[in-house]
Amino acid sequence: MQRFDLAQKLIREAGERLREAQLEPGTIQQKTGHQDLVTDWDAATEQFLRREILGAFPRDAIVGEEYPDAGSGEVTWYLDPIDGTTNFINQRRNYAISIGCWRGESPLFGLVLDVERQTLYAAESAQGAWREGQRLHVSACREIEGLLVDTPGVLHTFLESHPWQAGLIHLAQDVRAVRCLGSVALELCAVAAGEADAFITLRSSPWDHNAARIILTEAGGALCTLDGLPLPLDKKSTVLAANSMELQARLLASYCCAEKEN
Ligand code: IPD
Ligand code: CA
Ligand code: CA
Repeated sequence: MQRFDLAQKLIREAGERLREAQLEPGTIQQKTGHQDLVTDWDAATEQFLRREILGAFPRDAIVGEEYPDAGSGEVTWYLDPIDGTTNFINQRRNYAISIGCWRGESPLFGLVLDVERQTLYAAESAQGAWREGQRLHVSACREIEGLLVDTPGVLHTFLESHPWQAGLIHLAQDVRAVRCLGSVALELCAVAAGEADAFITLRSSPWDHNAARIILTEAGGALCTLDGLPLPLDKKSTVLAANSMELQARLLASYCCAEKEN
């Protein structure tokens, strides 16, 4: 079986398991604090994915959220077993499984499953982005006043001190609306689907964005860091995603340069 076919089979199977999961109190733990939770289901899902992927492709490398990196092959799988664990616990919706696959610095495919909606976002390099058979395209909005901007965390984006804080507060005042879902992968897919126009986060990890970034670029969008640098593959970073290079450049120039605000 090809990697892309295997990944689609595994993500659907893992999704079924999560939909049936019983979230007893003893299965939820704090990771780094009370705003950073993990469940036994995060670990079980990642174990399942790792076991099946390495069983089929033993020379591939895995970078996942819950366990140390494994392998050193030229193909790397980036796994987030549950993106939006807090939503999984509190809402039992708006959480995703994310699988990104890269050969070195080149994207192979990205899959993001909106678990409770049983909706799969998928993109293979140069093949476009798809949601359950429907081709995805970014929105056409370029005017700041008309933008809907997603960010996963109000606290980190607007209330904490950081180099872009003043600029991002101005952005929030200038756009049509800011929305906050709480899953980096699903929020990037919302930009890919034209349901949001831009996305900003101060904190994102390779497993959060390395699948959805392929889906977004295949849908016509663009991503970079809040410094305007290329989004790294293997380390944590800020993320600015937009429906086009043009909007990305406008947002960077008007809101993301620390020097302008000081
Ligand atoms: C988190 C979610 C959240 C974002 C965090 C991520 P997790 O992932 O995507 O929306 O604000 O930065 O770490 O912990 O639920 O996998
Ligand atoms: Ca995540
Ligand atoms: Ca996670």
